[in-house]
Amino acid sequence: MSRFYSPALTRRAFLTSAAAGAVGAMLPLSRQSPAIAAAVREIRLRAAPGRARLLPEPSGEISAWCYNGTAPGPEIRVRQGDRLRVEVENGLAEETTVHWHGVRVPHTMDGVPHLTQKPIGTGERFVYEFDAVDAGTFWYHPHQRSFEQVGRGLYGPLIIEEREPVRVDRDVTWVLGDWRLTKSGAVSEDFGNMHDIHHNGRVGNAVTINGRVPDTFSVSPGERIRLRLINGANARIFSPDFTGLQPVVIALDGQPVAPHVPDGGRVVLGPAMRADLILDMTGKPGSRVSIFDRFYEGLEYRLVDFVHAGSPLRERVPDWPLVLPANPLPEPDLETASRNEVVFNGGMMGEMVAQDMGESMGAGAPGGTVRDMKSMTGMMQAMNSGTAWFINGIAADEASHDMKPAMTLAWNKSHVIAMTNATAWHHPIHLHGHSFRVISRNGQPNRHREWQDTVLVSPREKVEIAFVADNPGDWMFHCHVLEHQAGGMMAVVRIA
Ligand code: C2O
Ligand code: CU
Repeated sequence: MSRFYSPALTRRAFLTSAAAGAVGAMLPLSRQSPAIAAAVREIRLRAAPGRARLLPEPSGEISAWCYNGTAPGPEIRVRQGDRLRVEVENGLAEETTVHWHGVRVPHTMDGVPHLTQKPIGTGERFVYEFDAVDAGTFWYHPHQRSFEQVGRGLYGPLIIEEREPVRVDRDVTWVLGDWRLTKSGAVSEDFGNMHDIHHNGRVGNAVTINGRVPDTFSVSPGERIRLRLINGANARIFSPDFTGLQPVVIALDGQPVAPHVPDGGRVVLGPAMRADLILDMTGKPGSRVSIFDRFYEGLEYRLVDFVHAGSPLRERVPDWPLVLPANPLPEPDLETASRNEVVFNGGMMGEMVAQDMGESMGAGAPGGTVRDMKSMTGMMQAMNSGTAWFINGIAADEASHDMKPAMTLAWNKSHVIAMTNATAWHHPIHLHGHSFRVISRNGQPNRHREWQDTVLVSPREKVEIAFVADNPGDWMFHCHVLEHQAGGMMAVVRIA
């Protein structure tokens, strides 16, 4: 068992702390060596309507939904091993919850309405309490009507610092946002419309970094920056091109990865995904490097310019180490792992892909894989009635609050999930409560076998992930294009 993490003990520690009430800021945790007491970090978040300024003055502010008055919400920054106690107050006119995306929390702290908790009603509060077991770049957002709540600005960064971080001159967080604004500059009210649901989601028309449409970002010549990128968008996929800044990826979805230069200098971030980059500013004083986002072909745009200003910090790229200390993740054993097939169907043009992919669709998937034209017709009917996306032939109905597990995985055992995307669209697939290794794509072993909590699956692609199911409970497994999720692309994975 890892030194830092045991879900059962974590839950017990939570009960202990709840009983201990207001005893104070220091809470000894039995799961750590007795000499180390975890610091409890008390945080308050209030979700409420507010104002956001996406563009500099004289542009006006717009109505948004905010945490503590800002969109995105405040950066929560703690140390690995700290315990977080976050009191969330709901100042919205509708229910909400907070999900700690990528953080391996106990099930009851996961923020999924009706599955892990009662939603937080208007004017109510809920206290989330969990340990920061993994260091890395994470984020938080509501899990209630996320397509609207996130789309209006409710999301924020959660940074868990390593005890011994890699050395850099500056540690910078960029929360990438994507807003759909009307001509008058207000947030467009067309949330959850059928077109977005059936196609690639609510892709907007105003990209922000930390809530502002960016222009320039000042750096010192010679400076080394750790840039933490978080995709907080409903649906937009980002692929910023950092060629010219010697980008090295050191972590993905918060988890360390063997430092490497990404293909073509570009990192691809589907919704909810994160990447930590090391960038060395090698330009001359006064020089600029433009960063283009190149994900959508023909729709490239300039995201931001790095501007080198001031006197150089150093002449040469430093040789400081880039490898982050590993997090306490259990290694899956592929020899003994169970195998589970998952097929994604649906969306516009999906039936064509489905027909062409033929075989793979029926490949031994448990529980209702689409095997014949009769269920295909059923899917088409379902699509016309509002559900659009299917996991093993089933579209989830979030509103019914009745989600039976699509899959039950044995606790503390290794499992492989093979996912086939039989649709014409990209899907960032997220599993709650765990990080998994991405072991292959289209049958080819994956070079870095990166740990992720959200993996972008391309049209017609087959991706295999592997992990140890060490966190018991019912966990969401869904597409993080929030309109796809709303259109049925989610399921429950039971670990018992
Ligand atoms: Cu980022 Cu199910 O969530
Ligand atoms: Cu999707």
